[in-house]
Amino acid sequence: MNKNKKKQRVAVLISGNGSNLQALITTCKNNDYPAEIALVISNIPNVKGLQRAIEADIPALTIPHSKYNNRADFESTLNDALTRYEIDIICLAGFMRILGKEFVQKWSGRILNIHPSILPKYKGLNTHERALNNGEKEAGCTVHHVVAELDAGPNIIQAIIPIYSNDTAQTLKLRVQTQEHIIYPIALNIIAQQLSAA
Ligand code: GRF
Repeated sequence: MNKNKKKQRVAVLISGNGSNLQALITTCKNNDYPAEIALVISNIPNVKGLQRAIEADIPALTIPHSKYNNRADFESTLNDALTRYEIDIICLAGFMRILGKEFVQKWSGRILNIHPSILPKYKGLNTHERALNNGEKEAGCTVHHVVAELDAGPNIIQAIIPIYSNDTAQTLKLRVQTQEHIIYPIALNIIAQQLSAA
């Protein structure tokens, strides 16, 4: 990457394991990659993803939604942290809170999510169980822009894999997650480059 070009500063929002966070951390170590992980925020204390951030020397905050009286107060604290760390892009990666319209609009074009289905199919939870129950032949994952409606923003990239006759929700989840770890860094690369060029 051109030395004079500023890397896009990314906050990854998590609620748990953080395997997608790990994929992004690993990719961002590449000098040529146009983004850096500048902050990790979890709404749940003591999750593995926070540990991954600490091990990578990335500032890690816990902002527990349960301590706030309402969503607006929680999101205002989130926004303060994002501003303090001069964040350009938010990556939701297993962040299990729905964000309000105002927050999402404020970050429009700069907030991404990864969802474990071939959107627009199977929005919401338990995507793999539902795909199997419906006899689908393919499963996958999508990185998309976040809009106020759940799992509904424009897609950036998708991966599609076959469902095998002996697949369970667990085997499917593992195979889809392998794809998630490939496509999220690609999607972030695309968006970071677009924003750097803007
Ligand atoms: C992933 O399957 C992602 O698609 C979904 O939540 C899961 C998070 O996993 N949104 P991890 O915390 O990144 O391991």
